[in-house]
Amino acid sequence: MKLSKKDFVSIRDYSREELDIILSLCKKQKPLARNFTLEHTHPGRVLGCIFHKPSLRTRVSFEIAIRQLGGSSLYLTDRELGIGSREAPKDVGEVLSRYLDAIQIRTFSQQMVDDLAKYASVPVINGLTDLLHPCQILGDIFTINEKLGTIDGKKVVFIGDGNNVSRSWLNAAARFDFKFVLSSPQGFNISPSFIKELNADGDPDFEWIEDPFEAVKDADVVYADVWTSMGQEEEEKIRKEKFQAYQVNDELMGHAKEDALFMHCLPAHRGVEVTDSVIDGKHSVVYDEAENRLHIQRAIIALLIPTESEL
Ligand code: CP
Ligand code: NVA
Repeated sequence: MKLSKKDFVSIRDYSREELDIILSLCKKQKPLARNFTLEHTHPGRVLGCIFHKPSLRTRVSFEIAIRQLGGSSLYLTDRELGIGSREAPKDVGEVLSRYLDAIQIRTFSQQMVDDLAKYASVPVINGLTDLLHPCQILGDIFTINEKLGTIDGKKVVFIGDGNNVSRSWLNAAARFDFKFVLSSPQGFNISPSFIKELNADGDPDFEWIEDPFEAVKDADVVYADVWTSMGQEEEEKIRKEKFQAYQVNDELMGHAKEDALFMHCLPAHRGVEVTDSVIDGKHSVVYDEAENRLHIQRAIIALLIPTESEL
């Protein structure tokens, strides 16, 4: 079973059928991995993990995922690589492809990931950019499928700004059959150009609602992220003021469906965008969600890196 694309840089690059292939492999492999009975389908394969921003979940889960398939990983920072400064993306992509079997990259610019994908002959996987966070959202969909049976027909409400996580949610809404609502102060929605481009390529059921209480009405999932993403630190003070009314607390969760899930990609700023009572409360599935990053990414790399028989 193979995917039609070499890389995994955006959910938009894949059809619903292919995303379902990833989700079903994830479902099949998860219990095997938990029981240590997963087959080593990728012995000797090496995944390069490039990080230009900090990470707990993405780094650890990718490095573990390739090991669980029988391979190994290599952690690389910009001190070693200098993509675009020490060396042109073309040279980095070409050379790394001679050593590695796949590259996972977390960086600032989506263009750098796209360039690397263009020049590398091995798969390139987006581990977060300023624009997108596709592995996170596919893992989150897996979690919702586990908890609610299916994401189709559900209402997912993102309380926060138009950022990498919410844009990937919107991309997913163009491929899956759920309603996506973003609730933010004026001026912090996903940009009209991103929405317009996506509308031409899918038909997401998307609504922006300024009032968070109105937004979470009938929500199956209430989703939070930090108000200030990595790289926006100088805006932290102003964002904290603007988003004051957007904290996910017991009162806000009380306006969602009674059995609504609370999700957060983590890291969370406890007491800021979410209260301890919600993140530690009965609605929260944040640790299952974090675990599922491992399972979904293992499925992605298993499908993208050829096995012995596929070479
Ligand atoms: N959710 C997520 O991507 O976490 P990290 O930043 O720790 O990788
Ligand atoms: N929007 C957050 C996600 C972290 C996983 C950030 O980019 O910092």
